[in-house]
Amino acid sequence: MKIISYPKALWFAALLISSCLFAQNKTGRDLVLLDKGWHFSFGHLYDTNKDFGHATGYFSYLAKTGYGDGPAAASFDDRAWRQLDLPHDWAVEQGFSEKASFSHGFKAAGKGFPEKSIGWYRKKITIDKEDLGRVISIKFDGVFRNSKVWFNGHFLGTEESGYNGFEYDVTAYVNYGGENTIAVRVDASMEEGWFYEGAGIYRHVYQQKTNPLHVIENGTYVTSVIENNTAQVTAEVTIENKGNYKGAIEIVQTIVDASGKTITTASEKATAPNFYKTGLYQSVLQVNNPLLWDVDAPNLYRLLTDIKQEGKVVDRYETTFGIRTIKFDAERGFILNGKILKLKGTNNHQDHAGVGAALPDELQYFRIKKLKEMGSNAYRCSHNPPTPELLEACDKLGMLVIDETRLMGINKLHLGNVQYLIERDRNHPSIICWSVGNEEWNIEGNITGERITNTMQDFAKSIDPTRPVTVAISSGFRSGISSVVEIMGYNYLGNGDVDAHRNEFKQQPGMGTEEGSTFATRGIYFTDDAKHYQSAYDKKPRPSFYSIEEGWKFYGTRPYMAGMFIWTGFDYRGEPTPYGWPSVTSYFGMMDNCGFAKDNVYYLKSWWGKEPVLHILPHWNWEGMEGKEMDVWVYSNCDEVELFLNKKSLGKKKMETLGHLEWKVVYTPGTLEAIGYKDGKKILTEVQKTTAKAEKIQLTAHKPSLDKDNDAVVITVETTDKKGLHVPTVNDEITFAIKGGGKIIGVGNGDPTSLEKDVFLDEMAFAAITNLEEQALTATALPSALPAYPEADWQEAFKNRDYKKQAASYVYRGVFDLEKVSPNDVVSFFYQKIGTTSAVFVNGTKVTASAEDAQKYVFDSVILKPGKNTITIVTTPLVRLRDWDAMNTNPGTIQIVTKAEAWKRKLFNGYAQVIVQADGSNSDIVLEASGKDLKACTLTVKATAPKK
Ligand code: GAL
Repeated sequence: MKIISYPKALWFAALLISSCLFAQNKTGRDLVLLDKGWHFSFGHLYDTNKDFGHATGYFSYLAKTGYGDGPAAASFDDRAWRQLDLPHDWAVEQGFSEKASFSHGFKAAGKGFPEKSIGWYRKKITIDKEDLGRVISIKFDGVFRNSKVWFNGHFLGTEESGYNGFEYDVTAYVNYGGENTIAVRVDASMEEGWFYEGAGIYRHVYQQKTNPLHVIENGTYVTSVIENNTAQVTAEVTIENKGNYKGAIEIVQTIVDASGKTITTASEKATAPNFYKTGLYQSVLQVNNPLLWDVDAPNLYRLLTDIKQEGKVVDRYETTFGIRTIKFDAERGFILNGKILKLKGTNNHQDHAGVGAALPDELQYFRIKKLKEMGSNAYRCSHNPPTPELLEACDKLGMLVIDETRLMGINKLHLGNVQYLIERDRNHPSIICWSVGNEEWNIEGNITGERITNTMQDFAKSIDPTRPVTVAISSGFRSGISSVVEIMGYNYLGNGDVDAHRNEFKQQPGMGTEEGSTFATRGIYFTDDAKHYQSAYDKKPRPSFYSIEEGWKFYGTRPYMAGMFIWTGFDYRGEPTPYGWPSVTSYFGMMDNCGFAKDNVYYLKSWWGKEPVLHILPHWNWEGMEGKEMDVWVYSNCDEVELFLNKKSLGKKKMETLGHLEWKVVYTPGTLEAIGYKDGKKILTEVQKTTAKAEKIQLTAHKPSLDKDNDAVVITVETTDKKGLHVPTVNDEITFAIKGGGKIIGVGNGDPTSLEKDVFLDEMAFAAITNLEEQALTATALPSALPAYPEADWQEAFKNRDYKKQAASYVYRGVFDLEKVSPNDVVSFFYQKIGTTSAVFVNGTKVTASAEDAQKYVFDSVILKPGKNTITIVTTPLVRLRDWDAMNTNPGTIQIVTKAEAWKRKLFNGYAQVIVQADGSNSDIVLEASGKDLKACTLTVKATAPKK
């Protein structure tokens, strides 16, 4: 056994925590999801008043620990804020604006929108008394971006990256056996990428509790070498000791298979690292006849790492891994488990229709499955570290991954990010390559780029020697990074002479990291620049660029090329090239941003997939085009295809390998039929039929039941004619209503020009209480009807208050403005005590506190009026216990909630999508869809509470 111990400079923390303070009651590791029940409000980028006065105190949170102020303070009253569950993306909730960012899809948030660029999140958690003695951390999987976190008012740190996960140890700040407050300030005013990035806490948050002796975050590294059908598995673990235990420990490493059966186990005796130090420990285990991880058979194993102290297990850490070999070969391309496997890849950003960057986990699986259905076996995370669940989906479903860091450089920022990425992700069998850069035009072709690449790739190798490194390059493939990078990443054949580069660097493996970004709008067959519609038919995006077919004919036929990654698998928000406003999503995807297939998908299915394919484009609903010539294309991998219109043959054609077929057909309504032949035998038939008008709405769920935590279902909305045929040209608006154990979290339709709402939320506005005046009273009893207080006696409230000589009671009077009064709005007063017991009157009428919160009053609309309203509070005074106590003088906030209108979305060329998330109850979800002159449809999705 190899023991490597290295100190960490954490002496400041050591001073804060001494393990002898804690009597340890609980052991083991708990990871609790903290997604539910956050309070959210916008702050402001530079107006401190609108940022709740945060960071204005005499001593800032950087001056004295625990001095977080405004919403960062534990005592801050956030009851009036919006309540929501994570993951959350506030950018997708906003409307669109021409003034907003082109690259980020024109959402009126973030850059250029100071009032929608700062988001505050607060959550209260209870931590048990019995947890005293454990290490308590708050873990964030990713926040966009520049987040600052406080725990009970203590500043924990800043994470600039919008893509890294991060973890804060809060052990010393915890109120054991009581309430604790997490506060997060998120600043999305700067963009990291040139594509939609979302805004807010858009990934999961957890509370983690461990023993002081524990495996660190991302603290295992599992590698394997396979010889003679036996895998030698090396399991490294980094253990940290945040306690004072000294002496012997035992590390037991167990490998279990997918069914939970123990395969092998190894036990190592070692010595615990010293206080606040870490130790690296290694075990070697053997797996005989391993089930290899493969794209078709994604076999996974789990490593269970138990740390034993005095014979007792004090920590168990689980690592999912796979056993497989990978190699990039300069002659043969990519090799998985000894077999050549051409990379049939797509690039993707992380957003989806309706939900923006805040995807429920199930959507990651939905998207990876869609890509696999297209025949794809590889995914490039462009251009940032992905959400952990995306990689889990790739591991489980069998999708190879290029994992990419955000920015090139050699400083702590850049290398720290690379280190984080690799340490977090290196156990995923799906990952085959690290990408340390994309199209860095400033340095691609020069010596600076060469130096940076050398450092970054050596650095990556020092953390994970098992995978190669690539950089995606676009400005010529001649010198600079291209000369030194381990795997050459070619971005677009049109950007340089790929063959010339290959001939010069014959030892360097290569792949097309981006290729074939055609522009297409799903379901559109005639380009219409006025409408921002781009037709199908796999056009060259620009004259010097290449279509999907040209791209694949190039990479698919060169054995030394590992493969090609299409730009992109799915449309994404932002970069609406070749248009601009009011187009808001890209046109590059093989599928639209809902995952509805564009016709190009069938080209790839034909030449990437294993099944026989036959697909005709366009649809055959062309009223008004009778007698006109249409381009009819067929995508297929059959040897020959014969096309018929209304039973009349239009000729049989031979399919060119990696090609497609074309006919010119004069339009007559009816049935266009294609028959595909293989080895002279008829194997497939496909039709496009002219339909009648749409009559009925159809809803289809992507799976029949929900039973996992935060499980979600993707529902396809379409219309059919009287014969039940899908109508491909319908753009009707459909309205949705939902009942049971779930809620709609987003709607979309794949139309790049749609400026419809993605989400329908209650609107929340606030009215401040102003002109607060007071009168001192002699009675201690509170009135049940509002007395007529002498007008002349009102004076400014709390001015020159002598807390040592207070009156028996006080009456306060203030005003608040309401723009309108509607019985449908809910107007609530979140009272902050300015006295001990209080009587509250609005426009002279006494109001009573709500049942769920004694300091909350819901006002009946009949007592309110548009414009100025008067609020009167009669109360016995608060007593100042110590001279330096700051006394509350703010009576609270008035919140006005306007109910959201019903969820709705137009169909776009026949389709829309609704994403529904389960609430974790046992109540089935019922979605109802209705539209003008259409027969409504009801869909029931079974929902069961997840097993705990
Ligand atoms: C590439 C770039 C991608 C995307 C694409 C759009 O050059 O790497 O991120 O911007 O262009 O055409």
